[in-house]
Amino acid sequence: MTQDELFKVLVAHCKEYGFIFPSSEIYDGLAAVYDYGQMGVELKNNIKSYWWNAMTRLNENIVGIDSCIFMHPRIWEASGHVSAFNDPLIDNKDSKKRYRADVLIEDYLGKLEEKVNKEVEKGRRKFGESFDEAQFRATNPNVLREQAKYDQVHERYVKAEKAGDFAEYRQIIIDCNIVCPISGTCNWTDVRQFNLMFSTSMGSTSEGANIIYLRPETAQGIFVNYLNVQKTGRMKIPFGIAQIGKAFRNEIVARQFIFRMREFEQMEMQFFIKPGTELEWFAKWKEQRMKWHVNLGMGAENYRFHDHEKLAHYANAATDIEFQFPFGFKELEGIHSRTNFDLGNHQKFSGKKIQYFDNETNESYTPYVIETSIGVDRTVLAVLSHSFHEEKLENGETRVVLSIPPALAPVKAAVLPLVKKDGLPEVAQKIMNDLKYDFNCQYEDKDSIGKRYRRQDAIGTPFCITIDHETLNDNCVTVRDRDTMQQERVPIAELHDLIDKRVNLNNLLRNL
Ligand code: GAP
Repeated sequence: MTQDELFKVLVAHCKEYGFIFPSSEIYDGLAAVYDYGQMGVELKNNIKSYWWNAMTRLNENIVGIDSCIFMHPRIWEASGHVSAFNDPLIDNKDSKKRYRADVLIEDYLGKLEEKVNKEVEKGRRKFGESFDEAQFRATNPNVLREQAKYDQVHERYVKAEKAGDFAEYRQIIIDCNIVCPISGTCNWTDVRQFNLMFSTSMGSTSEGANIIYLRPETAQGIFVNYLNVQKTGRMKIPFGIAQIGKAFRNEIVARQFIFRMREFEQMEMQFFIKPGTELEWFAKWKEQRMKWHVNLGMGAENYRFHDHEKLAHYANAATDIEFQFPFGFKELEGIHSRTNFDLGNHQKFSGKKIQYFDNETNESYTPYVIETSIGVDRTVLAVLSHSFHEEKLENGETRVVLSIPPALAPVKAAVLPLVKKDGLPEVAQKIMNDLKYDFNCQYEDKDSIGKRYRRQDAIGTPFCITIDHETLNDNCVTVRDRDTMQQERVPIAELHDLIDKRVNLNNLLRNL
């Protein structure tokens, strides 16, 4: 199966097993908006707990808030979103379809990169153990040709991006003969800027109505509460404020399932520091955040940093943590050194003094900020796409399994009485009642035990606990491990500790 096909199967699986549904489906859906089902919401909540606890419990100097989605419209002028939160759009004159010009170019570059990688893999298969990748890349004519094309377009693109030169974006698209996937033509309009914020009105009458925006990031809710938290929490710099919440962007190219949505959730932390210490803190947070990701056990090789070549005018360092999604390495989290741009502008626009008084040096200053910003939904997608496998079993059957990191699994244990009689349901119910306070458990008594195992594999349940007739004599149950499919007899009294060892979120947190 190609990665593309696998991705389609994953999307269908997410729907079939109650993880993610297209929003408003009975009305034919709403583009780039998705609902989380009974399994998805558990997975999402576990991810949020992992992040929230890592930030606020493991760091004594980080506290959380929950600010509103609606905020004063001037906030978005101060933050620069009204004037500069734009995407470069281009329309195909024949199909009348609209695209992001930068995405068209990046996709083209991605295809060239893929071609190079395919050649390298071919070489690896051909030469086996004696394969020298560096030499192959430096000498193979096909690789050299595609790489040269890539380098040339990439250089033009980076230059155009830095200069904000949209005419050059269009020229690259035309020179590379990038066609509209619908019409197949290269008949493009000029590139124009399109603001991504959704607006609505607030006020009881239309005359008194004020245009307000649905927040496009949660970060501004933190900045405008900086003084409140610093004063009431008697916070001393360096300190951080964390927040999880919804954000909204009128994305033009909304594709790749929950990777790019119009309504999504962010987990953001703004770390307030003394000016001049920002690069040191930036390096620390880069390391910390990468550790948080790798600690999930989904393979360090599936993450990488991508340092920004073009920095926003207020930033003096920025990087993305990218994850290897089925459609390639893409941004999962952003880490930005934002100087005092946001607090400074809020001070200017609001007329309120936003400063920190340093008792040790007797000086006041506007703090600098390091921001870490990760999408909840992209993390859900990273976990699901990495965990999804179709396995061929020895008996010729296939099983679909989600090997979700156990601490994030929606259901931790399934309690399965072998039959619905002979006193087995009563024992199973008692086990369920004992475990349910600490673990999300599912009670299942329908269908054969094999079918029940398959259903639990498909939602990623780490443990299946089967209660059989022997249980009535020896007070033991059969515990089946999701990943190894190994079964062992375990005394009921030891069940809690066995499950806890594998699924307790604190075990993950202790490794950070
Ligand atoms: N406050 C900084 C900020 O919002 P960003 O890079 O625009 O930075 C941060 O967004 C993270 O939010 C991204 O790394 C991504 O995980 C997530 N994100 C952004 N736009 C998204 C969208 N349309 N759908 C899903 N997640 C998105």
